Amino acid sequence: MKRSPLIPFLMIAIFGILLMLSISFFGVTQQAEILEDDEENGEEEEEEFEDPIEHGEAVYEESCLQCHGDNLEGGSGPAIDGYDADDTLQAIEEGPGSMPAGTAEGEDAEAVAEYVENYE
Ligand code: HEC
Repeated sequence: MKRSPLIPFLMIAIFGILLMLSISFFGVTQQAEILEDDEENGEEEEEEFEDPIEHGEAVYEESCLQCHGDNLEGGSGPAIDGYDADDTLQAIEEGPGSMPAGTAEGEDAEAVAEYVENYE
């Protein structure tokens, strides 16, 4: 029996289609993995600050240090070491005098207030 000349042609075509499908399928699963990785990283960042004092220290260095000094000893702003957490929160919210209001917000503000109150 004579084989149709179309058969090898079709086989190559089918092989090509299957190859394309498997590569794109591989790509899609990889994408899901990459996204998952990103999510895990995000969680880690939040977990880094399980200790509120550590969180507060990071916020302090970011938002307060330039005016209140490395060791809360003061600079362009007054010394604030040992300042009561409630008073600190109030200062952050209201921005007394030339201190800008809202330099920290929400959890960041609470954490930095704890940090200031417990600073030694
Ligand atoms: C741009 C500079 C600046 C930044 C940033 C800043 N402060 Fe101040 N802060 C000041 C100045 C100036 C004062 C004094 C205001 C006054 O009473 O005239 C002050 C006052 C305070 C006081 C005392 C308020 C009082 O009643 O005497 C506290 C507490 C305080 N700041 C905490 C913080 C914390 C916490 C942060 C960061 C989240 C921060 N500050 C960021 C400039 C700054």
